[in-house]
Amino acid sequence: MSKEVKIAIMGFGTVGTGTYKILKDNGELIKNQVGADIVVEKILVRDRNKKRNIEVSDDLITINADDILEDPSIDIVVELMGGQEPAYSYIMKALDNGKHVVTANKELIAKRGREILAKADSKGLGLCFEASVCGGIPIIRAFKTSLAGDKIKRIMGIVNGTTNYILTKMAQEGSDYKEALGQAQDKGYAEADPTADVEGFDAAYKMAILSSIGFHSKVDIDKVKREGISKITKTDIEYGKELGWTIKLLGIAQDVDGKLEVGVSPVMLPKEHPLALVNGVNNAVFVNSEAVGELMFYGPGAGQMATGNSVAADIMDIAKEVVLGNAMKTNCSCFEDKIVAEESRVSYYTRISVVNKPGVLAQIASVFGNFGVSIESVLQKKTEGDRAEIVWITSKVEESSFRKAITSVKSLDVVKEVSSIIRVEANGYC
Ligand SMILES: NC(=O)c1ccc[n+]([C@@H]2O[C@H](COP(=O)([O-])OP(=O)(O)OC[C@H]3O[C@@H](n4cnc5c(N)ncnc54)[C@H](OP(=O)(O)O)[C@@H]3O)[C@@H](O)[C@H]2O)c1
Repeated sequence: MSKEVKIAIMGFGTVGTGTYKILKDNGELIKNQVGADIVVEKILVRDRNKKRNIEVSDDLITINADDILEDPSIDIVVELMGGQEPAYSYIMKALDNGKHVVTANKELIAKRGREILAKADSKGLGLCFEASVCGGIPIIRAFKTSLAGDKIKRIMGIVNGTTNYILTKMAQEGSDYKEALGQAQDKGYAEADPTADVEGFDAAYKMAILSSIGFHSKVDIDKVKREGISKITKTDIEYGKELGWTIKLLGIAQDVDGKLEVGVSPVMLPKEHPLALVNGVNNAVFVNSEAVGELMFYGPGAGQMATGNSVAADIMDIAKEVVLGNAMKTNCSCFEDKIVAEESRVSYYTRISVVNKPGVLAQIASVFGNFGVSIESVLQKKTEGDRAEIVWITSKVEESSFRKAITSVKSLDVVKEVSSIIRVEANGYC
């Protein structure tokens, strides 16, 4: 009798249906590598009567999670519902009941990954979550296997497709933020409430996961600094272009003398940097490691089939061990306990609107100097009536010193507005 590994899929939306299609359409290919048929025994949905663009036997569908969690024949539970609850409770119950777990749930892994991984490890069960970061890009597996013996120094990533689409539209078509967001919503790339994407929450979840794995040290989501793109203007994109820079929402995580710095923010990046060339909804992760040097992983960060492929690969990895009867005890690779720094040293682009009269530049420069902020360049961009617009590019400075300097600059009579502050990675490659 041929061997079987039985799985259940919890959630049958974009990723659930993609996963199911891959398992069905590529069944022979998968069986030949796993050494067993992967059989979908049950599929959990919320609404049994919902019209779906996929044919499945009605017997497979259930709205009762215990049909899966209490079924001793199911080897692997595949959680593709999203959100914290009931996903968390279902995953914990699945592990308690001896089932391996695959999930694509970035929010859950970023917020509660440590306890879920600890439970899986204590039970000798597999827990895989490749699709939780950058959908179709095999980045977690690359960190855990191909780069396992190397030391990662820096990770820079475009890890949110929605914001990259918006910034690409703004840069290529001169759209303002609201127009570009509307286009993203019309195309189905942005939710009606786009907050999770545009304010950087989604990217922060992914950076917490990636940096934890890359640096072998748990990075709590509340330690990830976060700033979104909703304040980015056409003017800054234009001025950036004149300076040879492109604005991208980047997750940056780096090990600086044994301390980690992890954050998500808009960044001015040299236009020739590989990440500056990543457009539309695509994602990319640029890695700098000690032995290999520079690597870039590029591809679709979302989508039914691309993300479904990542989930199917996780299922196959675990299924191979199930076939061999192996226990899995090394899910969690966070064996170090590195401090996540509160402060980083960063260069800034700062656009300031001032009264157009002699001595203003010197006044502002003097305030910056008082807080130890060195200026690399100053550009007078626009003069209209009694107003002038000045762009300041600083050298690398402690974030807190810069913030204090800006508070002081704002209090000057000659300063009308500090219009924007954007991180600069002028060297780009570290
Ligand atoms: N979409 C992507 O390209 C992508 C990429 C990477 C990662 N992810 C992650 O993958 C996961 C799934 O995303 P998705 O885009 O596939 O979501 P989706 O299209 O909204 O599908 C969610 C599915 O879960 C079911 N569901 C939700 N709550 C449920 C509950 N309480 N009980 C039973 N079933 C429930 C829904 O049932 P009904 O169909 O009956 O409503 C639906 O089938 C999320 O964690 C997401 O962050 C998605």
